[in-house]
Amino acid sequence: MSESPSGMSRRARRLRAMLWSIVLIAAGGMLLPLTAYVWTATVQAQESAEKAQADGKNPRSEYWREVREAAPGYTAVRGQETDVLIQSRGQVWREVRNGPVMIIGAIMVVGMIILLAAYHLKTGGAKLEHRTGRKILRWAMSDRVLHWYTAVLFIILAITGLSLLWGRAVLMPILGKEGFAVWAGIAKPVHDYLSLAFTAGLIVMLLKWFHHNIPTAYDREWFRQAGGYFGGGHPPAGFANGGEKAYYWVLVVGGTALVISGFYMLFPNLGFERAAMQNANIIHNASALILCTAVIAHIYLGTLGSEGALEGMITGEVDEGWARQHHGVWLDEVQQGHGRPAPEASGRSAAAPT
Ligand code: HEM
Repeated sequence: MSESPSGMSRRARRLRAMLWSIVLIAAGGMLLPLTAYVWTATVQAQESAEKAQADGKNPRSEYWREVREAAPGYTAVRGQETDVLIQSRGQVWREVRNGPVMIIGAIMVVGMIILLAAYHLKTGGAKLEHRTGRKILRWAMSDRVLHWYTAVLFIILAITGLSLLWGRAVLMPILGKEGFAVWAGIAKPVHDYLSLAFTAGLIVMLLKWFHHNIPTAYDREWFRQAGGYFGGGHPPAGFANGGEKAYYWVLVVGGTALVISGFYMLFPNLGFERAAMQNANIIHNASALILCTAVIAHIYLGTLGSEGALEGMITGEVDEGWARQHHGVWLDEVQQGHGRPAPEASGRSAAAPT
């Protein structure tokens, strides 16, 4: 083995050169990408500082003002929103979400509960005026399963979703920070996963009941008389009355906004920008609050507010007296042999005595 004058073997020298090469490559790999930072932090910062000083302004606050106003900087991660240092619009989103959306939403939901309670205390709701004992089929089994499937999911989604929106204000003082963190950790995945099952139910339900909800001329009269809920009259109504049709169309429009905006937030990796996600969040919250307000009214009218309605959605059959009171045009159609609501009715008397 040949030895150098320094006494180091050729092999040892090669090994030392190799080690130095590795160190240099590793150091270069780490340091070279930082040159852009160094450039920004020194040369550019110097230039803007000189410019700002010439203008008589504080260079640091000028720098952050520019960043806040979305002046492009440098981001190591390239791709979506490259060079955006701070997305200041997020501040606007937070203020809108935690301000008008939360407050107006609370006024709508709580206001609707107070109005319904006041109405019920004053009138006692629409009583079934004359129970005939004769039953007619209104909701087939498939309709009832669809309704309760969608309704139960909606209620779970409303509870978990509103926990996320109002949780800090309402639940945190009750459960404490840790307790709320545990609950929010459960509510969020439950909300995310069940939203898919709810969407499927909502779409099928709205498609299946579309034909009941096409507006007719006499719906206007129903609205003119406010459904008879304030004067005791029985305005004309088909299978669905004017109010139910309005509710259906609120579900169509609000449900579409809710589902599409929810999709944006559920799949952020599909390439949506932060601004789109923030818009989606506001639309999702607003449509959810509108739907919750409408559903609260619907639940009241389907239970205490209209005696005899709930038995239809549970057993499938309603009393003929209830049908006369709330859906006179539909009852006439059924008795004339038209407009039977479901295949189960075929082969039975339209208004079969029980
Ligand atoms: C505990 C909660 C609920 C109760 C007690 C309830 C009760 C009822 C009742 C009794 C009916 C039949 C009305 C009739 O025969 O004319 C009905 C219909 C209907 N329900 Fe519900 N429901 C509830 C929740 C929901 C939810 C959460 C949704 C949708 C998100 C929904 C959507 C509908 C629709 C579209 C109809 C048909 C149109 C109408 O009658 O208004 N329901 N519900």
